Amino acid sequence: MKEITIRQPDEWHAHLREKDLMLKVISLFNIYGRVVCMGNLTDPIDNLKKIIAYRNKLVCLSNFLPIIGAMLTKNSTLEEWTKITDLLYGRIFIKYIPKGVTTNSELGIAWPELKNFYSILELAQAKKIPFLIHAEIDKNPKTKKSISEINRERAAIPFVKELARTFPNLIINIEHVSTEAMVKLIKAHKNLSGSISPNHLIHRYEDVFDEQGKLVNVHGYFKPVAKTKTDQHAIIEAALSGDPKFFFGSDSAPHLQTDKENFKRAGAFNALTNLSFLCEFFADHQAIEKFEPFISEYGAKRYGFPLNQEVIRLQRQYWQVPSIYRGIVPDLAGKTMEWKIVE
Ligand code: DOR
Ligand code: ZN
Repeated sequence: MKEITIRQPDEWHAHLREKDLMLKVISLFNIYGRVVCMGNLTDPIDNLKKIIAYRNKLVCLSNFLPIIGAMLTKNSTLEEWTKITDLLYGRIFIKYIPKGVTTNSELGIAWPELKNFYSILELAQAKKIPFLIHAEIDKNPKTKKSISEINRERAAIPFVKELARTFPNLIINIEHVSTEAMVKLIKAHKNLSGSISPNHLIHRYEDVFDEQGKLVNVHGYFKPVAKTKTDQHAIIEAALSGDPKFFFGSDSAPHLQTDKENFKRAGAFNALTNLSFLCEFFADHQAIEKFEPFISEYGAKRYGFPLNQEVIRLQRQYWQVPSIYRGIVPDLAGKTMEWKIVE
């Protein structure tokens, strides 16, 4: 096979950032029909005014349809969310990052307090607004003891279960699924689906942390952290399975090299390689026919969008991932990729 033509994909999870960093990366997303742009900016996007201002910037600078992953924060109210859903249906999702678990989540709501915001989830359920969850918890709510990074997704499972039971018709998506346990949970509940990031198909915990759990490779550091071989295999299987509950969302999360290396920022900048990597991944597993639905169909169907009508082409052409891209170290820097997107 030398060339493959597929329906234009959607990107269901990306950090487009703001200001200079946004300008460095935004054009890479023009290959997609829709892009979910996460609102965890320094000043989180959590009200109508901020959503409109952020969306306008994205629209001005790109060809894709931006869907804002607007943050559920301590400032969120039912009144504000009623306005947001009335005006922006189809262009906003709700993103829940529990307090403190990742970049710019200080205004987030801790899991035990989420019930105080259930009226907003009822609204989302009634209006069919997807609720996207960063499913991790960093501290035991009773003892306040810190939970090690490798166990944070598993520890969030009881909370996700409770939500799935309380809101049987809410469209709940678990972002960047990273454990076998979460894959099982998603399969068991009809209102749960999961996006898969290439990060968790490629990387393993032991490539990033040493035996004492110390971070040794900051460029492989993203959240939820890469997990064990068993977890990685469960994610690989879910991606290859053709189960429409599992679809692509890259979690591309650029940080400048200096910030990443000096402040150990979590996030992999994988936007340069996602489609090339996934094409090779599906081809290597003799499952190339699952590539297109995984990146271009399942997500759109789950969220109630029509499928894109354009196509994109990939050619079997070797190219090398640069060691640095506009001041950002990309994921898979220096590696040779087999497939190239052609115009
Ligand atoms: O590694 C990550 N980086 N995970 C997230 O959930 C957020 C992201 C970021 O915004 O940097
Ligand atoms: Zn993310």
